[in-house]
Amino acid sequence: MATPTKNYSFSDLFGTHKTIFLDEDVNQGEKVFTSSYTPHSIWHREEEMKALVSYFKSIIVSPTTSSKKVILYGPVGTGKTVISHAFGNELVNYLARERNHGDPKFRYFHINCRKTKTPHLILTTVLRYLVSGFPLRGFSVDELLRMFTLLLYEQNLTVLLVLDEIDYLFPEERTDFLYSLSRLEESPILREEFGVSNRLESRFNLLTITRDKNFRYYLDTSTASSLGRNYITFNPYTRYQLFDILASRAELGLREDCYNDEILDTIANLAEEKGDARFAIELLWRSAKICEAGGEKKLSAEHVRKAVVEVLPIEKSIIDDLNTHQKLVLLSIARLLSVCSQSYVTTPEVRREYEMVCEEANNIRPRRQTQVWAYLKDLHRLGIIQQEVENRHLANGRSIGRISTIRIRDIPTEEIIQTLNHSIEDSSQS
Ligand SMILES: Nc1ncnc2c1ncn2[C@@H]1O[C@H](COP(=O)(O)OP(=O)(O)O)[C@@H](O)[C@H]1O
Ligand SMILES: [Mg+2]
Repeated sequence: MATPTKNYSFSDLFGTHKTIFLDEDVNQGEKVFTSSYTPHSIWHREEEMKALVSYFKSIIVSPTTSSKKVILYGPVGTGKTVISHAFGNELVNYLARERNHGDPKFRYFHINCRKTKTPHLILTTVLRYLVSGFPLRGFSVDELLRMFTLLLYEQNLTVLLVLDEIDYLFPEERTDFLYSLSRLEESPILREEFGVSNRLESRFNLLTITRDKNFRYYLDTSTASSLGRNYITFNPYTRYQLFDILASRAELGLREDCYNDEILDTIANLAEEKGDARFAIELLWRSAKICEAGGEKKLSAEHVRKAVVEVLPIEKSIIDDLNTHQKLVLLSIARLLSVCSQSYVTTPEVRREYEMVCEEANNIRPRRQTQVWAYLKDLHRLGIIQQEVENRHLANGRSIGRISTIRIRDIPTEEIIQTLNHSIEDSSQS
């Protein structure tokens, strides 16, 4: 009689990948590590939340004379998006409960400028929420602003508009747009359409989110004076704060017996330099995936070490949202850095490499030099590269001029090259 060659069952084989993550059908499972997951508990941001509440209190107290403008600044992964969302949603719920007959309706719009890249699109998006079937085309930004302002009064609304990742708007467009928004309710049209008394009302509130420390200084003086006074800073998280954030995710997504405090602390410690919660959470998730792929049952420091080289310090979706030439410029920098012994490259080097990269990428026509500089500026502004002007000296101290250096901090260049190659292929196919 033939002996069976198989001494395992299907459930054994498939079961190996169920050892780490909790079952999604019953618990939250792996999805708590994705960027679209909204956590129920937010840690260590009480002060920032209180600051938001106190700035925007007028929306609750005097909704028809509320026109607060607040800027929220912090580096990537410091909880700006998650806190502003939580705040907006809380406000919606609170006002829905407390609203009396005749009170203005409250509307909260959270726009991510990385996805909604122009003032025109931002306003059209908002107007389409307010007026069903509002046309996508056919109006100028000024006309859209005017319609939006009139709607606030006509529909008896109070609005909180959150412009998240404002850094993605083109600088000139951004300045003009913010100027218009900060002066929205001062336009003479309101007087014409509603009579002078309505000018005593204001209903438009704005929360601008940036990761550029110098954002305030780019605003012209009059915009800055109405927009730049209320400022909330989100500092990078400390190791202990990251630990708590990690622990609450682990509890929802991982089996209790596969990790311990020590491993979470190892990850928190690694992520502390950036203070970036997104990085920490992704590191935990990758470590768990590596552990799972090896058929092991307990997370170890070795899994974390392996995960570190895989986690890009930049969110992949940020790379995907760059335009083709920005990607090609970034790819050139990464390629140069992966082969050169220095930690930086210079602008002329990048330009030569970029021309080669364009040629290889199905003969894409390279953009002019000034445009390449503009792309480098964009990448710097978005925190993807660091561009600095440095003075050069000979050994005897004599100055030999200045060069502009470009660095990509901490990036495993191989990873970024792969990600970009895929991303460029995808965008050239679509
Ligand atoms: N205080 C916090 N408590 C729980 N999760 C957090 C906290 N801060 C950030 N996160 C999580 O970390 C990730 C990055 O946060 P996010 O708000 O997107 O940062 P930012 O907008 O500042 O780049 C998200 O997955 C978010 O849910
Ligand atoms: Mg964000």
